[in-house]
Amino acid sequence: MERKKVTLPYLFNKVANNEPITWLTCYDYPTAYLMEQAELDMILVGDSLAMTMLGYESTLPATMDDMIRHSAAVRRGTPNTFVVGDMPYMSYQPSVETAIRNAGRFMAEASCDAIKLEGGVEMADRILGIVRAGIPAMGHLGLTPQSAAALGGYRVQGRGALAAKKIIEAAKALEQAGAFAVLLEMVPDRVCQIITERAEDCIIMSLGSGPNAHGQLLIYHDMFGLYPRFKPRMAKVFGNAGEVILNGLTQYVNEVSNKTFPQKENWFTMKDEEYDELMDML
Ligand code: KIV
Repeated sequence: MERKKVTLPYLFNKVANNEPITWLTCYDYPTAYLMEQAELDMILVGDSLAMTMLGYESTLPATMDDMIRHSAAVRRGTPNTFVVGDMPYMSYQPSVETAIRNAGRFMAEASCDAIKLEGGVEMADRILGIVRAGIPAMGHLGLTPQSAAALGGYRVQGRGALAAKKIIEAAKALEQAGAFAVLLEMVPDRVCQIITERAEDCIIMSLGSGPNAHGQLLIYHDMFGLYPRFKPRMAKVFGNAGEVILNGLTQYVNEVSNKTFPQKENWFTMKDEEYDELMDML
């Protein structure tokens, strides 16, 4: 039986029942199909695809067209998971209008259920504009990879009291602007707990920010050993798909080289009479 579509009321109901929300990144059709079978609640089509799928050193080169193409592929694989499209660098920073137009593309061209954008109080007007345009919007605080240069690299945010207070205030500002959810990336667990306890009508999600949120996010490539450059400390490897694929690739190279692949069941034949007729024609 096909499961029911995950909606905002479904997610808020999970929060009310103290059931953690499950969330992963995903960028392609076959993986989205598997995530649908696993009954995952949410998918983030993250601009991290610039790194995990396209091999760039940062998320900045991801374009709106990249994001739309991958989001639409994910949607085709998973009709019932709640899909969040991640707004790429410079798709919302220039102005509220730019933000609304690009958020609209995720909904109209890729059938996303919501969008996510990075930034604190300074981005509250983007969230407000997008929500007023009828699009569910999520904030992203703590380590925000699009501002890694300004943050001094990929490091934990909010360890000091003053920085922590700023993040707590920013979470409230995003909630008040209408964000249905806020992702906290690499924020200390106790800061995450305070924000979760203070959230009134907002789902707080954690990526490396501890267990005291309404749900958890992981990067798919980190959890299956599929990103060769590094493995962040917060990621747990749930299976080494990278190793499985590498073994298969090596075996393929060996079998073709030593002529044990292909075997009869791997090719197609023609009837003798057709072959004879062909030979007569040649
Ligand atoms: O692009 C992405 O995958 C993200 C996560 C790092 C939260 O924004």
